[in-house]
Amino acid sequence: MSTIYVVGSLNADYAVPVERIPRVGETLPGGDLAVYPGGKGANQAAAAARLGAAVRMIGQIGADAAGRFLLDSLRAAGVDVSGIGASPGASGSALIYVLPDGGNSIVVSPAANARLTPSDVRGRLAGLRRGDCVLCQLETPLETAAAALRIARAAGAKTILDPAPARPLAADALRDVDILTPNETECAMLLGTPPPANHAQAAAAANALRALGPAAVVLKLGERGCLAADERAPRAIEPFRVEAVDTTAAGDTFNAALAVRLGAGDALDAAARWANAAAAVSVTRQGAQTSAPNRAEVEKLLARQPPTPGPIP
Ligand code: RIB
Repeated sequence: MSTIYVVGSLNADYAVPVERIPRVGETLPGGDLAVYPGGKGANQAAAAARLGAAVRMIGQIGADAAGRFLLDSLRAAGVDVSGIGASPGASGSALIYVLPDGGNSIVVSPAANARLTPSDVRGRLAGLRRGDCVLCQLETPLETAAAALRIARAAGAKTILDPAPARPLAADALRDVDILTPNETECAMLLGTPPPANHAQAAAAANALRALGPAAVVLKLGERGCLAADERAPRAIEPFRVEAVDTTAAGDTFNAALAVRLGAGDALDAAARWANAAAAVSVTRQGAQTSAPNRAEVEKLLARQPPTPGPIP
C-alpha cells in the first residue's frame, strides 16, 4: 500500500460563531468558543487517514498542551505521527470567526510551524518510495514546502500542492508540482489576475497555471464544485448540494480525498468528483478535523446525486 506524506502545519483552532465580522474598533458578542484540532496540514492528514489511507504527518508542534492535543487528534484518526517534531515555545494556533452561512475568516499564528526546516523534512521523508504521494500546503516556510516537493519528485512520488493560504510564489516554485489545487483567491494570487468569475475564466486560469509547471490543476470553486484541467480541455466537476454550517477545512478535506482517490487509481475527474462529495459532507459539521468524513459517508452522498456534467453555473 502506498503512503501519503503530508508536510504541513498543525494548529489549535479557536472558533467563535459570529453574526458578522467585526469592524476596526468594534467589539461584538459571539457564540460559545470551541477549540478544535486544525492546521491545513494536520487537517489533510486526518481526513486522508479517516478515508482509509496510510498517512504519515511531517510537521512541528510546540512544547505545550496544544501540541499534545494536536498529536492526540492525529493519532486517533490513525495517522503515523513519528514525523512530527517538537520545538520550545508555542504550537500554532488559529483564531476563526464562523459566520451564520458557514463561511469563515481566519488569522493564523504559525509559532512552531514556522520552525519546520528543509533539513527536518529531508530526514523525515527518508522512507519515501516511488508511488507514494507528498501533499504540501503553504502554512509552513516556503523553502520547506519547496524542499519537500523537490525530494518527492526525485524519489518518484506524486506531488500535490494546495497553495493555501494565498502567498506570492517565485516563478519556478511550481516546477516540482504534479497537481496544483488552488481556490479562486489562491489562483488570483498566483496569476496576478482577479479571481475567475465564470467557466471560461476558470478554464483560462487553470491553463495558465499549468503553463507554470503542474501537469494538472484542480481549481476549487467552493459551492460551485471544481474544475479539472490536464492535457485534455478543462472540465467542470459538479458540486453536491448540502446545508453548510461551517466551511472550515472543506478545502483540506477536498485535498485529502483527491490524494486518497488518485492513490487508489482513480482518473483525475473521478477523484475530483469524490473530493467534491467529501468536502460537501465536511461543511455539514462544525470544526476542522472534527468535520472530516469517513468513506461510507462520502459514498452515501455520491449515491444520492448522480453525475451531472456541464459548465460551471
Ligand atoms: O483550512 C482550515 C485551517 O486553516 C484551520 O484549521 C486553521 O488552523 C487554518 O490553518
